[in-house]
Amino acid sequence: MTPHIEAPSSAFAKTVLMPGDPLRAKFIAEHYLENVQQVNQVRNMFAYTGTYKGVPVSVMGSGMGMPSIGIYSWELYNVYGVENIIRVGSCGAYSADLNLYDVLLADRVFSESTFGTVQNGDPDPFRMPSAALNQRLLSSADTLSLPLQTGTVHSCDVFYRQDPDDYLRILHTHHAVAVEMEAFALFHNAQVLGKHAACLLTVSDSLVTAEAASAEARQTAFTRMMEIALHSISRA
Ligand code: HPA
Repeated sequence: MTPHIEAPSSAFAKTVLMPGDPLRAKFIAEHYLENVQQVNQVRNMFAYTGTYKGVPVSVMGSGMGMPSIGIYSWELYNVYGVENIIRVGSCGAYSADLNLYDVLLADRVFSESTFGTVQNGDPDPFRMPSAALNQRLLSSADTLSLPLQTGTVHSCDVFYRQDPDDYLRILHTHHAVAVEMEAFALFHNAQVLGKHAACLLTVSDSLVTAEAASAEARQTAFTRMMEIALHSISRA
């Protein structure tokens, strides 16, 4: 038990999939997993443990932003013995080469957040995913013949920026191709605790074209991302 998760210490599998939205976690558990048990409902941050093709796996919402995923990922790694967390989220495209519904694997994360400095004094604005998890996800996409792009992702603390063109600065300076709000804290915690983390994203909107995904198309893109994530676990 932790202040935020009511489950007993053996309730989670070694690998946890983390969408931002707890109702997404419920959807994943109901549509993809077998032998499912709900293991958390504190703050409605639903978590489930089940199996995929016989392999134990958990799924839990992270909430939005680095403070939220920072809390849940820390407790999963540190209290529940979780080894791998794969974030399965959405992002906004900074690059004109990314189209709506593309699936992107973060191979580096940039953030101007103070999360690292405050957590352990590490001021490096970049964090890296687990090379082993990324390799597995890339080979999973390859096996399934599903396109998967890679690139630097911007983890941003602010969704509504005063200047909507501010993204160009981050694109040009740090070569970030997309923006989301959680990966930096997840990768930081994994690094500090000697664990593994990866981040898969579907492009839900574009800062270049101002397009946004329809609900139905979002679901199709989400399904492709989930197939890549789940196949990588089944081969783990
Ligand atoms: N900004 C931040 N996070 C996001 C976005 C965005 O435009 N789209 C999806 N997640």
